[in-house]
Amino acid sequence: MDFKLSEEHIMIRDAARDFAQTELLPGVIERDNKQEFPQSLVKKMGELGFLGIMVDPKYGGSGMDAISYVLIMEELSKIDASASVIVSVNNSLVCYGLEAYGSEEQKQKYLTKLATGEFVGAFCLSEPEAGSDATSQATTAIDHGDHYVINGTKNWITNGGRADVYIVIAQTDRDKGSHGINAFIVEKGTEGFHIGPKEDKLGIRGSDTHTLQFNDVKVSKENRIGVNGSGFRFAMKTLSGGRIGIAAQALGIASGAFELALKYSKQRKAFGTEICNHQAIAFKLADMYTDIEAARMLVMKAAWDKDQGLNYDKSSAMAKLYASKVAMEHTVEAVQIHGGNGFVKDYHVERLMRDAKITQIYEGTSEIQKIVISRSLIKE
Ligand code: CAA
Repeated sequence: MDFKLSEEHIMIRDAARDFAQTELLPGVIERDNKQEFPQSLVKKMGELGFLGIMVDPKYGGSGMDAISYVLIMEELSKIDASASVIVSVNNSLVCYGLEAYGSEEQKQKYLTKLATGEFVGAFCLSEPEAGSDATSQATTAIDHGDHYVINGTKNWITNGGRADVYIVIAQTDRDKGSHGINAFIVEKGTEGFHIGPKEDKLGIRGSDTHTLQFNDVKVSKENRIGVNGSGFRFAMKTLSGGRIGIAAQALGIASGAFELALKYSKQRKAFGTEICNHQAIAFKLADMYTDIEAARMLVMKAAWDKDQGLNYDKSSAMAKLYASKVAMEHTVEAVQIHGGNGFVKDYHVERLMRDAKITQIYEGTSEIQKIVISRSLIKE
């Protein structure tokens, strides 16, 4: 067992850290206030290879491993979780799914552009009545021979108004339940595909979240991913990897808030000394750091499982469950350590606290992670 990062991993982490400090940090408060999508920064992240981190270089990707992915996600998320969710969705839910399950033609046409950041992708599974209960898809994709016709509504779609390529999960044969579901590639601008209003969110306000409407949207058969009826398993496998990305995002939010709280506690004085010298604050710091390190171990283990070709359904669910809990609890503590200053936007921790909440909700709520973990334990 080796807990040390390789020289290459350290270089990758430092490059992401440097980018986050120099490029993401300067406008992050303003983007959050204005709910502004970081368009030019997405382009720069594409140039750095952050949008196709694990994709094979033959499809325009960076060919890195999942450990590199979580290192990059943590560093970006320490500063700007709105930017990092764009990276996570594009990498795990769109690029991974296409590379693992798409046809060669789909990879050449879409993956090459998604991996370089020329295109941004979105993953459309959630619906008004199918969030956690993902098999209850009301959106239909009816087979018309050489094409399908999609009708339905998708909710809370990250990159919803900004994507070029949408992976859409829909029900083709309701009698077959989860085995009647398919995944499709839908291009922006396809007739009948409408982007609804943007959501006004508590956190990750710089990311772009929309409801999407599909009214008789014609999609050619070549744009179905995998064999007929494989869409639900495709979505589940894709989400298992996505959960590693969101776990790393939660880890970054927690460690970013911790670093700010530690720094602040060494500067701020009360009762004649820096507040870190008061046990009330020092013990908070000890608890925060210990929990963050424990979360890091789970996140790294899930990424390692993926890199080793092992099953990572359970380890990714555990990593997300725990890291998101740590992010939520300890961003609240970071605000507490900052006192009144923590409640105002200039100090960043209030934003990190708001951003933390979504990590317990998207890509499977904490309750869903417990279903995945417990079912896997019972089956083992
Ligand atoms: N890999 C392969 N197959 C899987 C699988 C996996 N990880 N998980 C389930 N399956 C298979 C099952 O084996 C089963 O197949 P059989 O019928 O052949 O046995 C089939 O899929 C149905 O599975 P379940 O019976 O377990 O289905 P369920 O209805 O009980 O639901 C669930 C399981 C885990 C709760 C699932 O619905 C789930 O993960 N829900 C949460 C969905 C979610 O994460 N949504 C997030 C939205 S995306 C998002 O947030 C993106 C964003 O923009 C940031």
